[in-house]
Amino acid sequence: MTANGPAASASSESSSFPTFPPGFYFGAATASYQIEGGHDEGGRGPSIWDTYCREPGRVANGATGDVACDHYHRYREDVALLRDLGVDSYRFSVAWPRIQPTGSGKANEEGLDFYDRLVDELLAAGIAPAATLYHWDLPQALEDLGGWRVRGTAERFAEYAALVVDRLGDRVTRWMTLNEPFCSAFVGYAIGRHAPGAREGRGALAAAHHLLVGHGLAVRALRAAGADEVGIVLNPDLLLPASGSEADLGAVRRAETLHNAVWLDPLFAGRYPEHEAETWGELADGSWRLDGDLEIIGAPLDFLGINYYRPITVRDVPLRDPDPATRTAVDIRVEETWRDDVRHTTMGWPVVPETFTRLLTELTERYPTVPPLVITENGSAEADEVAADGQVHDADRVDYLRDHLHALAAAIEAGVEVQGYYVWSLMDNFEWAFGYDKRFGIVRVDYDTLERLPKDSYRWYRDMIANHKTQE
Ligand code: NOJ
Repeated sequence: MTANGPAASASSESSSFPTFPPGFYFGAATASYQIEGGHDEGGRGPSIWDTYCREPGRVANGATGDVACDHYHRYREDVALLRDLGVDSYRFSVAWPRIQPTGSGKANEEGLDFYDRLVDELLAAGIAPAATLYHWDLPQALEDLGGWRVRGTAERFAEYAALVVDRLGDRVTRWMTLNEPFCSAFVGYAIGRHAPGAREGRGALAAAHHLLVGHGLAVRALRAAGADEVGIVLNPDLLLPASGSEADLGAVRRAETLHNAVWLDPLFAGRYPEHEAETWGELADGSWRLDGDLEIIGAPLDFLGINYYRPITVRDVPLRDPDPATRTAVDIRVEETWRDDVRHTTMGWPVVPETFTRLLTELTERYPTVPPLVITENGSAEADEVAADGQVHDADRVDYLRDHLHALAAAIEAGVEVQGYYVWSLMDNFEWAFGYDKRFGIVRVDYDTLERLPKDSYRWYRDMIANHKTQE
C-alpha cells in the first residue's frame, strides 16, 4: 500500500484547486459501525444494526458490520493514511455499545480504551480528533425498551456522553452529539430502511423529538465536562419543486418541514416547525413534548455540522395511506422525482454542485442565529475499479470533490462562515442498507484481503490540502 503510486501526478493542476481562508481546516470522516468490525470484541454489546443486518432481506447481500474494514484492529494503518493525506482533523464516531454494552450503567473500560488508543495515535500524527457520539448504533437493549420513541433513551444518551467526555475530553476538542437525526428518526422508524426497521407515524415523530432532547442533554454533559467545541451534525436538504404549480410548492413546504424545520427550528429558532400540522395532520399532536424541552434543545452550539450530497426535487402526490393509525411519518404527499439533466452517482443521487452553495447561503439567511458551519460530510459513491496498472482512477469522484469544494468556496465568498470540511469517506465502508456495494472512499478497501489502496481522489485531496497550506 502506497500513496505514491504511478498515478501520483494525476491531478497536479493546482490552478484548479479552490481556495479557502486562512485557518480553514480539512479532514476525513468515518463512523463506527461502518468501519470498525470487531463486533463481539472488547466487551461490545449488540447494537440495533447488528440485529437489523441479521434480519433476512434488510441489507444488500446479507452484509453485516461484523468485520467491516476491520478498523478495530487496523486503526494504526488508517491513521497513517490520514497522516500521509495531510488532514488537520479526523471525524470518527464512538460506538455506544462499546462503552455501555446494554446502554446504561458504568462504562466498559475496554471499550473506552479502544478510543483512547485511537485518539493518542491521531494526536501523535498531528491530527485533531473530532468525535461523533451517535452515528446510529443504538445499544439493542435500549431499543428493547422503546428506543428513541421513549424519553428514557435521551436521558441514557446524556449519561453515555458524560462517560465518553470524562475519558477523552482532555484530548478531544471537537464533539458532535448526533449524526443526521433525520435518518435515525425517519429512515429508522418511518421508512424502515435503517435499523430498527420500523414503519410508524407517531413513533417516528416522537423519536425525532427525543433525539433532539438527547442532543440538548448531551450538550449539557459535554459543557459540564469543559468540552471546547460542541455541535450537532444535520443533513439539511435543498428541496426543489418539480414544477411551479401550487401543489408542488406545497410539497416542497412539507418536505422542508420533514427534512429541515423539524431540526433547525427547535435548535436555532426556539420553536417547533410552523407547518407541522399541514405536514402530518393529526399525527403531529406533540404529546411527547414537555415544558422546557425547547430550552434543553436550543442550548447554544459552537458549530453546526452539515452533511451534503445532493439536492432533492419533489412533487405533490396523494397520501399513500389515508388511515392515521397506520400512516407513516414520511407519508406527507411528497414524492422525490428523478432529473435527467445531470449525472447521478451510483447512489442514484444527482450531481449538482451549485445547489451546495445555495443550500448554505439560504440556510444562514433563514436562521441568522446559526453558529459557524463545518461541512462534516461530502463525497460520492462511484463505480470504482482497479485498473490494469493496479490503481483506482476515480475521475468522477475527483470531479465531484473539486466541484463541490469550489461551490463551498463560493458560499464562503458570499459571506457564509464555514470553518472546515471533512470528506466522506476516508475509505470504502459498510453503506448501511446497501452493504458493501456502494463505495464512498478515497481509499479502496479490498473486502477479501482488507488491504487499503489510495485512489486518485486521495492524491487529489492530498494535493489540494497541500496547496491550501502553501497559501496560508
Ligand atoms: C451520511 C451518513 O452520515 C453516512 O453514514 C453515510 O455513509 C453517508 N451519508 C453516505 O450515504
